[in-house]
Amino acid sequence: MAKMMKAAVFVEPGRIELEDKPIPDIGPQDALIRITTTTICGTDVHILKGEYPVAKGLTVGHEPVGIIEKLGSGVQGFKEGQRVIAGAITPSGHSYACLCGCSSQDGPGTKHGYKATGGWKFGNLIDGAQAEYLRVPDAMANLCAVPDALTDEQVLMCPDIMSTGFSGAESGKIRIGDTVAVFALGPIGLCAVAGAKLMGATTIIGVDTVAKRLEIARQLGADHTVDFKAGNPVDQIMALTDGRGVDVAIEALGTQNTFESALRVLRPGGRLSSLGVYSGDLKIPLDAFAAGLGDLSIVTTLCPGGKERMRRLLEVVASGRANLKPLVTHRYKLDNITEAYDLFAHQRDGVLKIAVTP
Ligand SMILES: NC(=O)c1ccc[n+]([C@@H]2O[C@H](COP(=O)([O-])OP(=O)(O)OC[C@H]3O[C@@H](n4cnc5c(N)ncnc54)[C@H](O)[C@@H]3O)[C@@H](O)[C@H]2O)c1
Ligand SMILES: [Zn+2]
Repeated sequence: MAKMMKAAVFVEPGRIELEDKPIPDIGPQDALIRITTTTICGTDVHILKGEYPVAKGLTVGHEPVGIIEKLGSGVQGFKEGQRVIAGAITPSGHSYACLCGCSSQDGPGTKHGYKATGGWKFGNLIDGAQAEYLRVPDAMANLCAVPDALTDEQVLMCPDIMSTGFSGAESGKIRIGDTVAVFALGPIGLCAVAGAKLMGATTIIGVDTVAKRLEIARQLGADHTVDFKAGNPVDQIMALTDGRGVDVAIEALGTQNTFESALRVLRPGGRLSSLGVYSGDLKIPLDAFAAGLGDLSIVTTLCPGGKERMRRLLEVVASGRANLKPLVTHRYKLDNITEAYDLFAHQRDGVLKIAVTP
């Protein structure tokens, strides 16, 4: 009989529960990782609520830190017992999308079945990381060794939160001296603030209403914070920029309201870099869009993955260029993950990210 493990499974909208599942089998290009630390993403909450559909019975989670338990026969360059991370997005490295330089959109690439987000496999297309063990596909493209000097918690933001938040700044093509607004300061938006600073923005405006999040945004590089409950954030940002608007607006929530505000604060020719996962309708108001004549760019990014991306993010952590320590606010055992979801989904007790350990 297959050996069993504990895994957090999507049962139905409103229910993610811990179940016993067989430890995954691996193929020649895969690795089996024994998870040592993982966490819950805002996207997992969309899954929990049924806003982002996944198959019933799927193990959720896409942020793994762990130890290589077993390597497929074709995997070279790694050894069992090594501590590693893998990105939330696991590109194969050989698909049409990967070879077009768009590896997050990795997928079958056939006439049939090619679909956006195909590079996001863990907890979306295949069993994910909120479990005792995880199968990592295309291990040679995706495993990244963690330096001994860094703790699990220090690298826990690399697979997704840091990669996504930073990509908001990178896709926004921020230039030295830019003015940047970041809408929503959850873990993703906070990393976008840190990323904007690393990219050379000299005026960063963070928008949220939670005092603690506004405070952490200032620690990470925000020069101004705007409380969206204290007045229309568009007006507040226009006042802060002497009516010029911002060069780059990063959307980090996934709502009509924040998308539209991000569009409205752009200077002509500005760039909206969108990170949120939207559910329901999204409309582009013609006036904010300058009827299509504003030289505006709207760009979306799915978290970049792959071992080279992870290596670079580990370098950022190791170099101390960005200190994301304040993001891990809570610790839970995998056994209590339903409680962790409840706390995280309701943003109780000042939670930002929860380190979950099997
Ligand atoms: N693009 C990707 O690859 C990717 C990866 C991970 C997560 N995401 C998505 O990023 C989004 C953010 O995730 P998170 O975990 O950081 O979010 P979160 O849920 O922790 O935080 C959301 C924040 O938005 C704030 N907020 C609510 N209404 C607001 C408004 N009108 N204006 C400004 N702020 C407002 C809340 O106070 C809260 O601080 C989610 O949609 C998530 O699914 C995308
Ligand atoms: Zn995520």
